[in-house]
Amino acid sequence: MKISVVGCGYLGAVHAASLVELGHQVVGVDVDERKVGALCQARSPFYEPGFQDLLEHSLASGRLSFTTDVGDAAGARVHFVCVGTPQKHGEYGADLQFVQAAAESLLPVLEAGELVAGKSTVPVGTAARLADMFGDKVPGALLAWNPEFLREGFAVRDTLHPDRLVYGLPSGADGDTARALLDEVYAPIVARGTPKVETDYATAEMVKTAANSFLATKISFINAMAELCEATGADVKLLADAIGYDDRIGRKFLDAGLGFGGGCLPKDIRAFMARAGELGADQALAFLREVDNINMRRRIRMVELAREVCDGSLLGKRVAVLGAAFKPDSDDIRDSPALNVAAQLQLQGAVVRVTDPAAGDNIRRSWPQLDVVDSAEEAAERADAVLVLTEWKQYKELDPTSFGRIVKQKRVLDGRNALDRDTWTAAGWSYRALGRRAG
Ligand code: UGA
Repeated sequence: MKISVVGCGYLGAVHAASLVELGHQVVGVDVDERKVGALCQARSPFYEPGFQDLLEHSLASGRLSFTTDVGDAAGARVHFVCVGTPQKHGEYGADLQFVQAAAESLLPVLEAGELVAGKSTVPVGTAARLADMFGDKVPGALLAWNPEFLREGFAVRDTLHPDRLVYGLPSGADGDTARALLDEVYAPIVARGTPKVETDYATAEMVKTAANSFLATKISFINAMAELCEATGADVKLLADAIGYDDRIGRKFLDAGLGFGGGCLPKDIRAFMARAGELGADQALAFLREVDNINMRRRIRMVELAREVCDGSLLGKRVAVLGAAFKPDSDDIRDSPALNVAAQLQLQGAVVRVTDPAAGDNIRRSWPQLDVVDSAEEAAERADAVLVLTEWKQYKELDPTSFGRIVKQKRVLDGRNALDRDTWTAAGWSYRALGRRAG
């Protein structure tokens, strides 16, 4: 099937290449010439494990192309909308200008019987509005909402092996046509028996924001427990293990630490609250404000902890920050808790050196005031404290004995509860972490 994918960021580029893997012919459209240029030359514009290989493979098949000209989307039977919905400046709501622009850009190429399938995370009610627009301008064109649940770092796997498919469909015969087209797009995935939920637009839109809100709530729950552990001397890691054995609770997303960041969870819970307010249902989501508060408090607590271990003052103290991406296996620094802490430490007078295996260039571009170095060893040279703020594998595997020879003071702060406390303390380090006793 010929398919177009409008928006070639983390979501769209991976989706486009994955659709080729599923047997289709795909054109990826983006307004960003640099991004399109890189993709055409088989260079991934972002760090995502497995994507570079997938991109090369898909391009080599001759069935994948990228363009800035939406005219090339003509003739596609399905057009996926994969553009971003960032938080509006100075407000909680989602900025829908890119979704609107993408949808409008398709109007000249769209024909009756073709399907526009939205994948972007949007406030509930957006799909119905877009369906009205398409209905007015291109009679016979169809719209479905087909949310995406991929995680950065696992984007390729999550796209090719999703744990469920959600189709938000129009009613009646249009719904049958849209379903048939999506089933054809995802044929190998459907054939595997992947669970499929078919529903209306509003439910499909809400599935996505509800899922991300639940995940954010789970993380903030364990981080609230971490605050209590700090007050009582209990250990949040063991607490999470113990409650996680109950499979009604589950251990996943119960890793206490610096909390959630990135381009999705923080802005999605805020956009959800804003939309609930517009709908007169703000009380229903009032708890998400607390989820957000707990999350932001962890960053402040980390800075306090750093001050504490630096004998009460950060002024002139050399602090090494290991990890700056919002999570490991990503170069994404959007709303990164690690970078937030690094910047606060620097503003409070510390001499901060940041390093990250993948995000270095992004930090240099967006945070030129931070000193970014290429290795953990360079960052830690004569450091008064070492902060591990993103749990990259290479930091978890550091040898505390040899690493201890580089620093001035063997003080480590484990912002992600990712290091083996006993190994570090045995090597003479003082170990501090959020929600756990000092070691
Ligand atoms: C999230 C969702 O997990 C995806 O299902 C969704 O498709 C995506 O948003 C999206 O809306 O596009 P992602 O932002 O890639 O995916 O990252 P997560 O793996 O959810 O992690 C989010 C943040 O939570 C990270 O900063 C991570 O370090 C933090 N986290 C995660 C914790 O602090 N503790 C945990 O136990 C788990």
